[in-house]
Amino acid sequence: MDGPRELGLRNVGSHCSISEADDYDLSRLLDKPRLNIERQRSFDERSLSEMSIGVSPRFSTRAAENTRGLENFENMCSPGGRSGLNTPASSARNSFEPHPMVADAWEALRRSLVFFRGQPVGTIAAYDHASEEVLNYDQVFVRDFVPSALAFLMNGEPEIVKNFLLKTLYLQGWEKRIDRFKLGEGAMPASFKVLHDPVRKTDALIADFGESAIGRVAPVDSGFWWIILLRAYTKSTGDLSLAETPECQKGMRLILTLCLSEGFDTFPTLLCADGCSMIDRRMGIYGYPIEIQALFFMALRSALPMLKHDAEGKEFVERIVKRLHALSFHMRSYFWLDFQQLNDIYRYKTEEYSHTAVNKFNVIPDSIPDWVFDFMPTRGGYFIGNVSPARMDFRWFCLGNCVAILSSLATPEQSLAIMDLIEARWEELVGEMPLKISYPAIESHDWRIVTGCDPKNTRWSYHNGGSWPVLLWLLTAACIKTGRPQIARRAIELAESRLLKDSWPEYYDGKLGRYIGKQARKFQTWSIAGYLVAKMMLEDPSHLLMISLEEDKQMKPLIKRSASWTC
Ligand code: GLC
Repeated sequence: MDGPRELGLRNVGSHCSISEADDYDLSRLLDKPRLNIERQRSFDERSLSEMSIGVSPRFSTRAAENTRGLENFENMCSPGGRSGLNTPASSARNSFEPHPMVADAWEALRRSLVFFRGQPVGTIAAYDHASEEVLNYDQVFVRDFVPSALAFLMNGEPEIVKNFLLKTLYLQGWEKRIDRFKLGEGAMPASFKVLHDPVRKTDALIADFGESAIGRVAPVDSGFWWIILLRAYTKSTGDLSLAETPECQKGMRLILTLCLSEGFDTFPTLLCADGCSMIDRRMGIYGYPIEIQALFFMALRSALPMLKHDAEGKEFVERIVKRLHALSFHMRSYFWLDFQQLNDIYRYKTEEYSHTAVNKFNVIPDSIPDWVFDFMPTRGGYFIGNVSPARMDFRWFCLGNCVAILSSLATPEQSLAIMDLIEARWEELVGEMPLKISYPAIESHDWRIVTGCDPKNTRWSYHNGGSWPVLLWLLTAACIKTGRPQIARRAIELAESRLLKDSWPEYYDGKLGRYIGKQARKFQTWSIAGYLVAKMMLEDPSHLLMISLEEDKQMKPLIKRSASWTC
């Protein structure tokens, strides 16, 4: 039997071309036990940037060749590198047994594969045969596929990711209408489905751009995830040719046209409807939700080195650079909350006019919820959920904060402060199952007003303070980037005590995340893939490079808010 394949792990030799194989330093294979032990010992103390990771002999050559056309693609990661070597045999030799769950997870992930004309093009949201209603969980969701894609890239299987990127690009080209209204050209679908006709033996695609979603909201996050994934693919494979095709260049420009267009905005953040991202139903996140702002920032930064500096691309590059400056300043100043900042807001004066206003958005201190005063540790901080006129949503949202760390939207100090907060508020944000999507839950009257009495989003359930295992990969990536892998290990251990036994639920309920979610699917693909990605990243931290951006030194440092109007 083909052991590695069976486990879903890559058979290292089979994918290498001759020249690659030549470049590959075989001594690394033999050195593995030593490297592994060293990594275990040293990684807790040193941050990723201090360790010169990612440039294995094999990839440094490729990286050097590939950087020519693509600025800033300085370090290639090791696709299927070390984690690919972790066949049961090599692990046994090293006495680092993979957790038994890993093999189950790969098997479940492969079961969720979706094929179009014989080619794998994505993974379905959930493979839950026990559930009577399929709803739309039999579709390939763009956001759900991201952790699957990363797992495949890390395991040295980039083909499915390429196929997915091309299929969704093709769908982007469709004319999209909701009732009689035509959607912007660049919109990417929330999800798509492959219809197999067994009689005619044909496959057809159908896509949902929001027209069949709850609330009829177009997904703003899909386009951003698409760009982020294109960069991850490029980083991981060193294959610049995909990003450089006229189709991908156009795809990026269309997405960028939608989100960089000028309107009535006075803020550089992106104005959104409720439910346009992972939280895809009414949860009071309309306006400027942190999840979208962080993804927006990351997508802009990811697109920058991939865009060609030709006549069309150049204009976008200039607009992106300007927007990134304004966006990072705005987010780092106004969305950031720590003990000091909270105290300042608490003492705000209101009704200030003119440029000298300190309380720029006229936030009324009475609107600060009681819980936040207890929640805020003396050390630590986070990006709050939303900032708009007289409205600060103080809730914690996990995805936005982790993406802020990965994209370096958060300064290095802010990134560390976010990790400090997670440690200080472990009970609240992690509890018994990583990780709370948002904190705290909205209850009673607020729940009625904010969710519109949504029975799925009752307190401490689903999007309203529920715990989502998929977020584990984002936490792990953030932990590695900030040099705190021990936090990720603690969280992974918690997940390992339940996930397989509970059949990979979509989410957990309760203040501590102790109960399998009321309406949670089982065998939810991104719960499975998120776990695998977290494991592979801890095992080989160089994988982080495909999903992380180093700080851009050119970006203006945080300026005191009272002085900001002059900039
Ligand atoms: C739910 C989630 C959404 C996810 C979808 C498929 O609607 O809220 O984020 O993409 O399920 O898993």
